[in-house]
Amino acid sequence: MKLIGSGAEALIFLDGKRVIKKRIKKNYRIDELDLALRKNRTRTEAKILEKIPVDAPKLFKTDMTETLEMEFISGEKIRDVLDHNPLLAKEIGLKTSILHDAGIIHGDLTTSNMILKGEKIFFIDFGLSFFSEKIEDKAVDIHLFKQALESKHYKISDEAFKHFLNGYKLTKDYEQIIHRLKIVELRGRYKKK
Ligand SMILES: Nc1ncnc2c1ncn2[C@@H]1O[C@H](COP(=O)(O)OP(=O)(O)OP(=O)(O)O)[C@@H](O)[C@H]1O
Ligand SMILES: [Mg+2]
Repeated sequence: MKLIGSGAEALIFLDGKRVIKKRIKKNYRIDELDLALRKNRTRTEAKILEKIPVDAPKLFKTDMTETLEMEFISGEKIRDVLDHNPLLAKEIGLKTSILHDAGIIHGDLTTSNMILKGEKIFFIDFGLSFFSEKIEDKAVDIHLFKQALESKHYKISDEAFKHFLNGYKLTKDYEQIIHRLKIVELRGRYKKK
């Protein structure tokens, strides 16, 4: 078993074709809170992986506490390839619309949480996901993606976001979500001051 990554919260091991994602204890958090958070995120991720309507790793096993075993998606992180191929954002938009139409909010929609395998884009990292049909939650999800583009892909962010919307526009309530996105963005701006 070899360590292939350590994200914000989890250690990622590769064991053959399996990925083992283990949410480790954070010492700066009170014990009970820490366990509750890890349990919650692990269960959420398992639940979403079982129901996900877009390409995502297959879930093999979970202890429902801190560990998930899933399919290893061999490919390139979208973060590493988007600058050379901004049109990939259209497919990301389309997949996000499918997620949102299924009432799933990703919660951490960044280009580190997507993998390009062949022609397909896989979504990963569902620890912050939740079920919601609210326009506000969908708008915030998209706002996070837009911010991720602006910080990690600033050279192509405008172009990529246009492609994203082009794919996303098939979603139900598109106009309302975009209207709400503008309000979310204004709110963000006030907060910074
Ligand atoms: N199923 C998988 N197949 C291939 N690579 C993976 C897989 N799961 C995770 N990875 C790699 O490990 C990295 C970290 O995983 P992930 O994003 O799930 O953890 P994290 O950011 O710590 O998550 P969380 O916010 O839920 O704590 C990913 O960016 C990706 O490179
Ligand atoms: Mg991640």
